[in-house]
Amino acid sequence: MTVTAVRSKVNLTPQLEIAGGRQLSGEVAVSGAKNSALVLMAACLLSRDTIRLRNVPPLTDIAAMADMLSSLGVTVQASDEAIELSGDRINSAAAPYELVNSLRASFFCIGPLLARMGMARVPLPGGCQIGTRPVVEHVKGLKAMGAQVTIEHGVVTAVVPGRGHRLKGGRIHLDCPSVGATETLMMAAALADGETVIDNAAQEPEVVDLAGLLIAMGGRVRGAGTPTITIVGVDRLHGADYAVIPDRIEAGTFLLAAAITRSKLRITPVIPEHLGAVITKLEEAGCRIEHDGIGVNITARQINAVDLRTQPFPGFPTDLQAPFMSLLATAKGTSVITENIFENRLQHVAELQRMGAAIRMQGNTAFVEGVARLSGAPVQGTDLRASAAMVLAGLAAEGITTVRGLEYLDRGYAALEHKLNAAGAQISRVEAA
Ligand code: EPZ
Repeated sequence: MTVTAVRSKVNLTPQLEIAGGRQLSGEVAVSGAKNSALVLMAACLLSRDTIRLRNVPPLTDIAAMADMLSSLGVTVQASDEAIELSGDRINSAAAPYELVNSLRASFFCIGPLLARMGMARVPLPGGCQIGTRPVVEHVKGLKAMGAQVTIEHGVVTAVVPGRGHRLKGGRIHLDCPSVGATETLMMAAALADGETVIDNAAQEPEVVDLAGLLIAMGGRVRGAGTPTITIVGVDRLHGADYAVIPDRIEAGTFLLAAAITRSKLRITPVIPEHLGAVITKLEEAGCRIEHDGIGVNITARQINAVDLRTQPFPGFPTDLQAPFMSLLATAKGTSVITENIFENRLQHVAELQRMGAAIRMQGNTAFVEGVARLSGAPVQGTDLRASAAMVLAGLAAEGITTVRGLEYLDRGYAALEHKLNAAGAQISRVEAA
Protein backbone atom coordinates (compact mmCIF):
# COMPACT_ATOMS: atom_id res chain seq x y z
CA MET A 1 0.00 0.00 0.00
CA THR A 2 1.44 3.41 -0.95
CA VAL A 3 2.17 6.08 1.70
CA THR A 4 -0.63 8.13 0.21
CA ALA A 5 -3.04 5.23 0.59
CA VAL A 6 -1.83 4.59 4.14
CA ARG A 7 -2.04 8.27 4.90
CA SER A 8 -5.60 8.25 3.67
CA LYS A 9 -6.36 5.46 6.16
CA VAL A 10 -4.30 6.70 9.13
CA ASN A 11 -3.77 10.35 9.94
CA LEU A 12 -0.03 10.51 9.14
CA THR A 13 1.82 13.72 9.93
CA PRO A 14 5.31 14.54 8.69
CA GLN A 15 7.68 15.43 11.50
CA LEU A 16 11.39 15.88 12.11
CA GLU A 17 13.13 13.42 14.41
CA ILE A 18 16.23 15.00 15.94
CA ALA A 19 18.95 13.17 17.91
CA GLY A 20 20.32 15.84 20.24
CA GLY A 21 23.75 16.44 21.70
CA ARG A 22 25.80 16.43 18.52
CA GLN A 23 28.23 19.21 17.64
CA LEU A 24 28.16 20.84 14.22
CA SER A 25 31.11 21.66 11.99
CA GLY A 26 32.02 22.76 8.50
CA GLU A 27 30.04 25.18 6.39
CA VAL A 28 26.33 25.90 5.91
CA ALA A 29 24.96 27.66 2.80
CA VAL A 30 22.37 30.43 3.10
CA SER A 31 19.59 30.67 0.49
CA GLY A 32 18.02 33.80 -0.95
CA ALA A 33 15.80 35.87 1.34
CA LYS A 34 12.17 34.68 1.40
CA ASN A 35 10.88 38.06 2.61
CA SER A 36 12.65 39.83 -0.21
CA ALA A 37 11.91 37.36 -3.02
CA LEU A 38 8.17 37.48 -2.30
CA VAL A 39 7.90 41.23 -2.70
CA LEU A 40 10.31 41.32 -5.67
CA MET A 41 8.02 38.83 -7.40
CA ALA A 42 5.05 41.13 -6.79
CA ALA A 43 6.99 44.02 -8.36
CA CYS A 44 6.84 42.23 -11.72
CA LEU A 45 3.24 43.46 -11.96
CA LEU A 46 4.66 46.94 -12.58
CA SER A 47 6.19 46.11 -15.95
CA ARG A 48 5.18 44.60 -19.28
CA ASP A 49 8.71 43.26 -19.64
CA THR A 50 10.30 40.21 -18.05
CA ILE A 51 11.81 40.35 -14.57
CA ARG A 52 14.44 37.65 -13.99
CA LEU A 53 15.08 36.98 -10.30
CA ARG A 54 18.11 34.95 -9.25
CA ASN A 55 18.87 33.36 -5.87
CA VAL A 56 15.18 32.79 -5.16
CA PRO A 57 14.77 30.19 -2.37
CA PRO A 58 12.78 27.02 -3.25
CA LEU A 59 10.03 27.47 -0.63
CA THR A 60 6.32 26.75 -0.47
CA ASP A 61 5.66 30.49 0.02
CA ILE A 62 7.47 31.24 -3.25
CA ALA A 63 5.35 28.67 -5.07
CA ALA A 64 2.22 30.21 -3.53
CA MET A 65 3.21 33.68 -4.74
CA ALA A 66 3.89 32.26 -8.22
CA ASP A 67 0.39 30.76 -8.23
CA MET A 68 -1.09 34.04 -7.12
CA LEU A 69 0.67 36.00 -9.86
CA SER A 70 -0.25 33.40 -12.48
CA SER A 71 -3.91 33.81 -11.47
CA LEU A 72 -3.58 37.47 -12.49
CA GLY A 73 -2.15 36.58 -15.90
CA VAL A 74 1.56 36.82 -15.14
CA THR A 75 3.70 34.28 -17.00
CA VAL A 76 5.96 32.55 -14.48
CA GLN A 77 8.85 30.31 -15.54
CA ALA A 78 10.98 28.79 -12.79
CA SER A 79 14.31 27.03 -13.24
CA ASP A 80 17.04 26.04 -10.77
CA GLU A 81 18.88 29.29 -11.45
CA ALA A 82 16.09 31.84 -11.63
CA ILE A 83 12.41 32.71 -11.81
CA GLU A 84 11.28 34.72 -14.85
CA LEU A 85 8.06 36.71 -14.47
CA SER A 86 6.41 38.50 -17.37
CA GLY A 87 3.64 40.96 -16.62
CA ASP A 88 2.82 41.74 -20.24
CA ARG A 89 -0.54 39.99 -20.24
CA ILE A 90 -2.16 40.76 -16.89
CA ASN A 91 -5.81 39.88 -17.36
CA SER A 92 -7.21 40.41 -13.90
CA ALA A 93 -6.91 42.87 -11.05
CA ALA A 94 -8.75 40.62 -8.60
CA ALA A 95 -6.63 38.33 -6.45
CA PRO A 96 -8.36 35.08 -5.43
CA TYR A 97 -9.29 34.67 -1.74
CA GLU A 98 -7.82 31.23 -1.24
CA LEU A 99 -4.40 32.31 -2.49
CA VAL A 100 -4.23 35.53 -0.45
CA ASN A 101 -5.50 33.71 2.61
CA SER A 102 -2.71 31.15 2.37
CA LEU A 103 0.02 33.70 1.81
CA ARG A 104 -0.13 37.04 3.60
CA ALA A 105 2.60 38.57 1.44
CA SER A 106 0.36 38.30 -1.62
CA PHE A 107 -1.64 41.23 -0.21
CA PHE A 108 1.33 43.41 -1.17
CA CYS A 109 0.20 42.95 -4.80
CA ILE A 110 -2.48 45.59 -4.21
CA GLY A 111 0.11 48.35 -4.67
CA PRO A 112 1.55 47.35 -8.06
CA LEU A 113 -1.84 46.13 -9.33
CA LEU A 114 -3.42 49.49 -8.57
CA ALA A 115 -0.51 51.37 -10.12
CA ARG A 116 -0.62 49.26 -13.27
CA MET A 117 -4.36 48.64 -13.75
CA GLY A 118 -5.95 51.62 -12.00
CA MET A 119 -7.91 49.25 -9.79
CA ALA A 120 -7.36 46.21 -7.57
CA ARG A 121 -9.50 43.82 -5.55
CA VAL A 122 -7.53 41.91 -2.95
CA PRO A 123 -8.98 39.97 0.01
CA LEU A 124 -7.86 41.08 3.44
CA PRO A 125 -4.98 38.75 4.41
CA GLY A 126 -6.48 38.06 7.82
CA GLY A 127 -4.58 37.25 10.94
CA CYS A 128 -2.33 34.35 11.72
CA GLN A 129 -0.83 32.59 14.72
CA ILE A 130 1.38 35.53 15.71
CA GLY A 131 -1.09 38.37 15.46
CA THR A 132 -3.99 40.16 13.75
CA ARG A 133 -1.69 41.51 11.03
CA PRO A 134 -3.71 44.64 10.10
CA VAL A 135 -3.18 46.47 6.79
CA VAL A 136 -4.36 49.89 7.96
CA GLU A 137 -1.12 51.62 6.94
CA HIS A 138 -1.20 50.06 3.47
CA VAL A 139 -4.74 51.36 2.87
CA LYS A 140 -4.04 54.79 4.39
CA GLY A 141 -1.06 55.26 2.07
CA LEU A 142 -2.96 54.25 -1.07
CA LYS A 143 -5.68 56.75 -0.19
CA ALA A 144 -3.01 59.44 0.24
CA MET A 145 -2.02 58.72 -3.37
CA GLY A 146 -5.56 59.33 -4.59
CA ALA A 147 -7.06 55.85 -4.49
CA GLN A 148 -10.67 55.32 -3.39
CA VAL A 149 -10.55 52.29 -1.10
CA THR A 150 -13.48 50.33 0.32
CA ILE A 151 -13.46 47.20 2.43
CA GLU A 152 -16.53 44.99 2.16
CA HIS A 153 -17.05 41.31 2.92
CA GLY A 154 -13.36 40.91 3.66
CA VAL A 155 -12.22 42.29 0.31
CA VAL A 156 -10.27 45.50 -0.23
CA THR A 157 -11.32 47.28 -3.43
CA ALA A 158 -9.12 50.13 -4.57
CA VAL A 159 -9.87 52.33 -7.57
CA VAL A 160 -8.01 55.30 -9.02
CA PRO A 161 -10.70 57.76 -10.21
CA GLY A 162 -10.32 60.20 -13.06
CA ARG A 163 -8.64 60.22 -16.44
CA GLY A 164 -5.85 57.72 -16.97
CA HIS A 165 -6.52 56.15 -13.56
CA ARG A 166 -3.06 57.18 -12.45
CA LEU A 167 -2.10 57.47 -8.77
CA LYS A 168 -0.71 60.81 -7.67
CA GLY A 169 2.44 61.22 -5.63
CA GLY A 170 1.78 62.27 -2.04
CA ARG A 171 3.30 62.57 1.41
CA ILE A 172 2.64 59.56 3.67
CA HIS A 173 3.50 59.24 7.35
CA LEU A 174 3.27 55.67 8.63
CA ASP A 175 2.02 55.30 12.22
CA CYS A 176 4.34 52.31 12.53
CA PRO A 177 7.31 51.33 10.33
CA SER A 178 5.39 48.47 8.68
CA VAL A 179 7.59 46.46 6.30
CA GLY A 180 4.68 45.39 4.11
CA ALA A 181 3.10 48.84 4.01
CA THR A 182 6.43 50.44 3.07
CA GLU A 183 6.94 47.93 0.26
CA THR A 184 3.36 48.12 -1.00
CA LEU A 185 3.50 51.92 -1.17
CA MET A 186 6.93 52.01 -2.81
CA MET A 187 5.58 49.84 -5.61
CA ALA A 188 2.43 51.94 -5.97
CA ALA A 189 4.47 55.15 -6.03
CA ALA A 190 6.90 53.87 -8.66
CA LEU A 191 4.34 54.52 -11.44
CA ALA A 192 2.45 57.38 -9.80
CA ASP A 193 2.34 60.90 -11.23
CA GLY A 194 4.81 62.97 -9.20
CA GLU A 195 6.81 62.49 -6.04
CA THR A 196 5.86 60.34 -3.04
CA VAL A 197 7.57 60.66 0.33
CA ILE A 198 7.11 57.87 2.88
CA ASP A 199 7.97 58.99 6.41
CA ASN A 200 8.59 56.53 9.27
CA ALA A 201 9.31 53.93 6.61
CA ALA A 202 10.59 50.46 7.49
CA GLN A 203 14.38 50.18 7.11
CA GLU A 204 14.66 46.40 6.73
CA PRO A 205 17.20 45.06 4.16
CA GLU A 206 14.27 43.60 2.20
CA VAL A 207 12.96 47.16 1.68
CA VAL A 208 16.38 48.17 0.37
CA ASP A 209 16.38 45.13 -1.92
CA LEU A 210 13.01 46.17 -3.37
CA ALA A 211 14.39 49.67 -4.01
CA GLY A 212 17.33 48.03 -5.80
CA LEU A 213 15.02 46.13 -8.11
CA LEU A 214 12.80 49.16 -8.81
CA ILE A 215 15.89 51.20 -9.70
CA ALA A 216 17.12 48.35 -11.95
CA MET A 217 13.71 48.55 -13.65
CA GLY A 218 14.16 52.28 -14.28
CA GLY A 219 12.44 53.49 -11.14
CA ARG A 220 13.53 56.56 -9.20
CA VAL A 221 13.86 55.69 -5.48
CA ARG A 222 16.11 57.20 -2.86
CA GLY A 223 16.43 56.89 0.92
CA ALA A 224 15.59 53.16 1.19
CA GLY A 225 17.12 51.90 4.44
CA THR A 226 16.39 55.22 6.15
CA PRO A 227 13.13 56.37 7.79
CA THR A 228 12.31 58.60 4.78
CA ILE A 229 11.97 57.14 1.30
CA THR A 230 11.33 59.34 -1.75
CA ILE A 231 9.95 57.87 -4.97
CA VAL A 232 9.49 59.89 -8.16
CA GLY A 233 6.96 58.13 -10.38
CA VAL A 234 7.87 57.26 -13.98
CA ASP A 235 5.64 56.43 -16.96
CA ARG A 236 6.86 52.88 -17.34
CA LEU A 237 9.26 50.36 -15.80
CA HIS A 238 11.29 48.00 -17.95
CA GLY A 239 12.54 44.47 -17.31
CA ALA A 240 15.52 43.60 -15.12
CA ASP A 241 17.78 40.73 -14.10
CA TYR A 242 18.26 40.90 -10.35
CA ALA A 243 19.71 38.73 -7.54
CA VAL A 244 17.86 38.44 -4.23
CA ILE A 245 19.89 39.19 -1.07
CA PRO A 246 20.85 36.30 1.23
CA ASP A 247 18.28 35.42 3.88
CA ARG A 248 19.42 37.13 7.09
CA ILE A 249 16.87 35.22 9.18
CA GLU A 250 18.02 31.84 7.86
CA ALA A 251 21.64 32.92 8.44
CA GLY A 252 20.76 33.98 11.98
CA THR A 253 19.07 30.63 12.55
CA PHE A 254 22.29 28.84 11.55
CA LEU A 255 24.35 31.11 13.82
CA LEU A 256 22.05 30.05 16.65
CA ALA A 257 22.38 26.38 15.65
CA ALA A 258 26.14 26.72 16.10
CA ALA A 259 25.70 28.54 19.41
CA ILE A 260 23.21 26.10 20.92
CA THR A 261 25.42 23.11 20.05
CA ARG A 262 28.54 24.95 21.25
CA SER A 263 30.12 24.43 17.82
CA LYS A 264 32.44 26.14 15.37
CA LEU A 265 30.63 26.74 12.06
CA ARG A 266 31.00 28.78 8.89
CA ILE A 267 27.85 30.32 7.42
CA THR A 268 27.90 31.87 3.95
CA PRO A 269 26.92 34.12 2.28
CA VAL A 270 26.13 36.66 4.99
CA ILE A 271 25.88 40.45 4.74
CA PRO A 272 26.97 41.40 8.30
CA GLU A 273 25.11 44.73 8.29
CA HIS A 274 21.89 42.74 7.91
CA LEU A 275 22.56 40.93 11.18
CA GLY A 276 24.17 43.64 13.30
CA ALA A 277 21.85 43.35 16.30
CA VAL A 278 21.94 39.54 16.23
CA ILE A 279 25.73 39.31 15.98
CA THR A 280 26.11 41.84 18.80
CA LYS A 281 23.80 39.81 21.03
CA LEU A 282 25.59 36.55 20.22
CA GLU A 283 28.96 38.14 21.06
CA GLU A 284 27.46 39.48 24.29
CA ALA A 285 26.36 35.91 25.05
CA GLY A 286 29.94 34.71 24.64
CA CYS A 287 30.27 33.70 20.98
CA ARG A 288 33.25 34.70 18.84
CA ILE A 289 32.15 35.80 15.35
CA GLU A 290 34.41 36.89 12.49
CA HIS A 291 33.35 37.99 9.00
CA ASP A 292 35.68 37.42 6.06
CA GLY A 293 33.88 39.47 3.44
CA ILE A 294 31.70 36.57 2.25
CA GLY A 295 30.60 34.59 5.27
CA VAL A 296 30.89 34.46 9.05
CA ASN A 297 32.76 32.02 11.27
CA ILE A 298 31.21 31.49 14.69
CA THR A 299 32.81 29.74 17.67
CA ALA A 300 30.62 29.04 20.69
CA ARG A 301 31.74 27.59 23.97
CA GLN A 302 30.16 28.96 27.17
CA ILE A 303 26.82 30.79 26.57
CA ASN A 304 25.79 33.48 29.07
CA ALA A 305 22.33 35.00 29.57
CA VAL A 306 21.52 38.20 27.64
CA ASP A 307 18.40 40.40 27.47
CA LEU A 308 16.53 40.84 24.16
CA ARG A 309 13.92 43.37 23.06
CA THR A 310 12.56 42.94 19.51
CA GLN A 311 12.43 46.16 17.49
CA PRO A 312 12.05 47.23 13.84
CA PHE A 313 15.32 47.11 11.88
CA PRO A 314 18.08 47.87 12.77
CA GLY A 315 16.88 46.62 16.18
CA PHE A 316 16.76 42.95 17.12
CA PRO A 317 14.49 41.14 14.58
CA THR A 318 11.25 39.60 15.81
CA ASP A 319 11.81 36.70 13.40
CA LEU A 320 14.79 35.52 15.45
CA GLN A 321 13.22 35.97 18.88
CA ALA A 322 11.97 32.39 19.15
CA PRO A 323 15.19 30.78 17.85
CA PHE A 324 17.25 32.94 20.19
CA MET A 325 15.04 31.94 23.12
CA SER A 326 15.94 28.29 22.49
CA LEU A 327 19.60 29.24 22.88
CA LEU A 328 18.99 31.23 26.05
CA ALA A 329 17.07 28.31 27.55
CA THR A 330 20.51 26.61 27.73
CA ALA A 331 22.54 29.67 28.80
CA LYS A 332 24.18 30.33 32.16
CA GLY A 333 21.94 32.77 34.03
CA THR A 334 18.53 34.33 33.48
CA SER A 335 17.62 36.24 30.29
CA VAL A 336 14.74 38.68 29.81
CA ILE A 337 13.13 38.54 26.36
CA THR A 338 10.48 41.08 25.34
CA GLU A 339 8.48 40.70 22.12
CA ASN A 340 7.45 44.20 21.04
CA ILE A 341 6.43 43.65 17.42
CA PHE A 342 3.72 40.98 17.37
CA GLU A 343 1.04 40.52 20.01
CA ASN A 344 1.14 36.74 20.09
CA ARG A 345 4.62 35.55 19.23
CA LEU A 346 5.53 33.69 22.42
CA GLN A 347 3.65 30.43 21.84
CA HIS A 348 6.92 28.52 21.61
CA VAL A 349 7.44 29.08 25.36
CA ALA A 350 5.03 26.26 26.23
CA GLU A 351 6.80 23.92 23.81
CA LEU A 352 10.22 24.77 25.24
CA GLN A 353 8.85 24.15 28.73
CA ARG A 354 7.91 20.64 27.60
CA MET A 355 11.62 20.15 26.96
CA GLY A 356 12.53 21.26 30.47
CA ALA A 357 13.13 24.96 29.82
CA ALA A 358 12.61 27.14 32.90
CA ILE A 359 10.62 30.10 31.58
CA ARG A 360 8.27 32.44 33.42
CA MET A 361 5.91 34.70 31.47
CA GLN A 362 4.72 38.20 32.28
CA GLY A 363 2.71 39.80 29.46
CA ASN A 364 4.96 40.05 26.40
CA THR A 365 8.07 39.30 28.42
CA ALA A 366 9.68 35.91 29.07
CA PHE A 367 12.12 35.36 31.94
CA VAL A 368 14.31 32.48 30.77
CA GLU A 369 16.46 30.78 33.41
CA GLY A 370 19.04 28.67 31.61
CA VAL A 371 19.18 24.95 32.39
CA ALA A 372 22.14 22.60 31.98
CA ARG A 373 20.38 20.39 29.47
CA LEU A 374 17.02 20.41 27.67
CA SER A 375 15.39 17.00 27.32
CA GLY A 376 14.10 15.65 24.03
CA ALA A 377 10.29 15.51 23.67
CA PRO A 378 7.53 15.59 21.04
CA VAL A 379 6.90 19.29 20.34
CA GLN A 380 4.83 21.38 17.92
CA GLY A 381 5.93 24.39 15.90
CA THR A 382 3.15 27.01 16.02
CA ASP A 383 4.51 29.36 13.36
CA LEU A 384 7.41 29.52 10.94
CA ARG A 385 10.06 30.77 13.35
CA ALA A 386 8.74 28.88 16.37
CA SER A 387 9.16 25.67 14.36
CA ALA A 388 12.78 26.62 13.68
CA ALA A 389 13.23 27.33 17.39
CA MET A 390 12.07 23.82 18.23
CA VAL A 391 14.55 22.31 15.76
CA LEU A 392 17.36 24.26 17.44
CA ALA A 393 16.24 23.11 20.88
CA GLY A 394 16.21 19.53 19.59
CA LEU A 395 19.81 19.85 18.41
CA ALA A 396 20.93 20.55 21.98
CA ALA A 397 18.49 18.37 23.93
CA GLU A 398 19.25 15.06 25.61
CA GLY A 399 17.72 12.24 23.55
CA ILE A 400 15.22 12.42 20.69
CA THR A 401 12.99 15.43 19.88
CA THR A 402 10.21 15.15 17.33
CA VAL A 403 9.03 18.43 15.80
CA ARG A 404 5.63 18.79 14.12
CA GLY A 405 4.45 21.86 12.24
CA LEU A 406 6.59 21.28 9.16
CA GLU A 407 3.94 23.02 7.06
CA TYR A 408 5.17 26.19 8.77
CA LEU A 409 8.88 25.31 8.67
CA ASP A 410 8.91 24.57 4.93
CA ARG A 411 7.46 28.01 4.23
CA GLY A 412 10.64 29.72 5.35
CA TYR A 413 13.51 27.24 5.29
CA ALA A 414 14.72 25.43 2.19
CA ALA A 415 15.74 21.93 3.26
CA LEU A 416 16.72 22.92 6.81
CA GLU A 417 17.39 19.37 7.93
CA HIS A 418 19.58 18.62 4.91
CA LYS A 419 21.74 21.67 5.55
CA LEU A 420 22.09 20.88 9.26
CA ASN A 421 22.77 17.16 8.62
CA ALA A 422 25.55 18.12 6.21
CA ALA A 423 27.10 19.96 9.18
CA GLY A 424 26.86 16.96 11.49
CA ALA A 425 23.32 16.99 12.86
CA GLN A 426 21.20 13.85 12.92
CA ILE A 427 17.70 14.82 11.73
CA SER A 428 15.28 12.68 9.76
CA ARG A 429 11.92 13.59 8.26
CA VAL A 430 9.44 10.82 9.09
CA GLU A 431 5.69 10.20 8.88
CA ALA A 432 4.08 9.57 12.23
CA ALA A 433 0.57 8.40 12.98
C1 EPZ B 1 7.08 41.32 7.47
O1 EPZ B 1 5.71 41.12 7.80
C2 EPZ B 1 7.67 39.92 7.36
N1 EPZ B 1 6.98 39.17 6.31
C3 EPZ B 1 7.54 39.19 8.69
O2 EPZ B 1 8.19 37.93 8.56
C4 EPZ B 1 8.26 40.00 9.77
O3 EPZ B 1 8.11 39.38 11.02
C5 EPZ B 1 7.65 41.41 9.82
O4 EPZ B 1 7.76 42.03 8.51
C6 EPZ B 1 8.35 42.32 10.83
O5 EPZ B 1 9.70 42.40 10.54
C7 EPZ B 1 7.25 39.43 5.00
O6 EPZ B 1 8.05 40.30 4.68
C8 EPZ B 1 6.52 38.59 3.99
P1 EPZ B 1 4.75 44.59 9.54
P2 EPZ B 1 4.68 42.38 7.74
O7 EPZ B 1 3.65 45.15 8.71
O8 EPZ B 1 5.03 43.30 6.66
C9 EPZ B 1 1.86 46.10 12.94
C10 EPZ B 1 8.45 35.61 8.83
O9 EPZ B 1 8.50 34.88 9.84
N2 EPZ B 1 1.10 46.78 11.89
O10 EPZ B 1 6.07 45.27 9.59
O11 EPZ B 1 3.31 41.83 7.79
C11 EPZ B 1 1.69 44.60 12.86
O12 EPZ B 1 0.49 44.21 13.52
C12 EPZ B 1 7.42 36.73 8.76
O13 EPZ B 1 9.21 35.51 7.83
C13 EPZ B 1 0.08 47.65 12.24
O14 EPZ B 1 -0.18 47.86 13.43
O15 EPZ B 1 5.01 43.07 9.15
C14 EPZ B 1 2.90 44.08 13.57
O16 EPZ B 1 2.64 44.09 14.95
C15 EPZ B 1 6.54 36.76 10.00
N3 EPZ B 1 -0.66 48.26 11.28
C16 EPZ B 1 3.97 45.14 13.24
O17 EPZ B 1 3.26 46.30 12.77
C17 EPZ B 1 -0.41 48.06 9.94
O18 EPZ B 1 -1.10 48.65 9.10
C18 EPZ B 1 4.94 44.70 12.16
O19 EPZ B 1 4.16 44.40 11.02
C19 EPZ B 1 0.64 47.16 9.58
C20 EPZ B 1 1.38 46.53 10.57
